[in-house]
Amino acid sequence: MSNTLDLSPAAYAGSPDAVPLLQVNGLAVDYLTTEGPVRACADVDLTVRRGEIIGIAGESASGKSTLLTALTRLQRPPAVTAAGSIIYQPPEGAPVDLAALTERQLSPLRWQDISIVMQSAMACLNPVTTIGAQFRDVLRRHNPGMSKAATTERAAQLLRLVGIPADRIRSYPHQMSGGMRQRTLIALALACEPELVVMDEPTTAVDVVTQRHILDQIIRLQEQLGFAVVFVTHDLSLLIEISDRIAIMYGGRIVELGSAQQIFESPLHPYTRGLRNAYPPLTAPLRRLTGIPGTPPDLRALPAGCAFAPRCAHRMDVCDLERPKLLPAGDGVAACHLHPAPAAMSSTGEGS
Ligand SMILES: Nc1ncnc2c1ncn2[C@@H]1O[C@H](COP(=O)(O)OP(=O)(O)OP(=O)(O)O)[C@@H](O)[C@H]1O
Ligand SMILES: [Mg+2]
Repeated sequence: MSNTLDLSPAAYAGSPDAVPLLQVNGLAVDYLTTEGPVRACADVDLTVRRGEIIGIAGESASGKSTLLTALTRLQRPPAVTAAGSIIYQPPEGAPVDLAALTERQLSPLRWQDISIVMQSAMACLNPVTTIGAQFRDVLRRHNPGMSKAATTERAAQLLRLVGIPADRIRSYPHQMSGGMRQRTLIALALACEPELVVMDEPTTAVDVVTQRHILDQIIRLQEQLGFAVVFVTHDLSLLIEISDRIAIMYGGRIVELGSAQQIFESPLHPYTRGLRNAYPPLTAPLRRLTGIPGTPPDLRALPAGCAFAPRCAHRMDVCDLERPKLLPAGDGVAACHLHPAPAAMSSTGEGS
């Protein structure tokens, strides 16, 4: 653990919240396929501070969902965590490594400390029980003594928080619109006032107007309640608008990490630049949109060097030979030979 990159340096050193909420070190996730293990997440180091919004972006199949399900220990076979630690610091008590906990040890942390909102609300809500009953289940799991009246009152309050009339408690999921179901999931995720809410494309299944509305609510609630968010979408413009920091994934690795402003104004990695230029900005003046040529890498046959090299306009010889490490560059960190660390720059001259 000592040789992993600390991506969270001076920003919170010395503050009372010096210990990050979540510290992910060297996380690797494999899918055990009939053709052997396929590494869908590799060497992931990530720090989540209390109350911050971290965005994760990347093309389809870059490993975003794999990372989130590993982080929350919600992954199912054939996915396995092959290496790394996920150190969670609860509000009180000693830190725990989520990667090493049993399902039984994890259970009290679910909903209460860490909750997740997935893309498909219909798949997450139980179709045969009312919304009220689903809130009751979650609330009672962590407050066994809570009366029915108290859970109903709390459920109504949570639904109102996300803009849903309280009488919807009696509805079944199929009686609600897609946007309402998605907001219901967000309200459920907040029911036990967790420290961390992980969201995997929570708004992609709804129209843009509803999407905007849901996002505004998430941000308002986050400001009000102070939970941290890890938010996944491939829409970089959206992430730039809502996130404090953004991690860019490519081929199962984080290839750039920086503040939303740095990612927007001065992306370091050519892939980040490509992603940024592929989406219309939400607030800045419109500019010409360009895609990224080529296709995402095949994880079963990754090149020895940089996985993005075959698509990169700045490809150099070294890119095919050596996989670039995630190193500090400018205001952020990037894994790109265009941005070697100062020490590496002086040593390349010596042929090492
Ligand atoms: N059950 C599985 N078995 C084998 N490989 C899988 C499985 N699920 C995902 N993968 C592979 O893992 C890689 C990462 O997938 P993942 O779903 O994490 O990507 P993603 O970034 O979330 O993509 P999207 O934006 O489409 O949701 C992909 O190459 C995918 O094919
Ligand atoms: Mg996904």
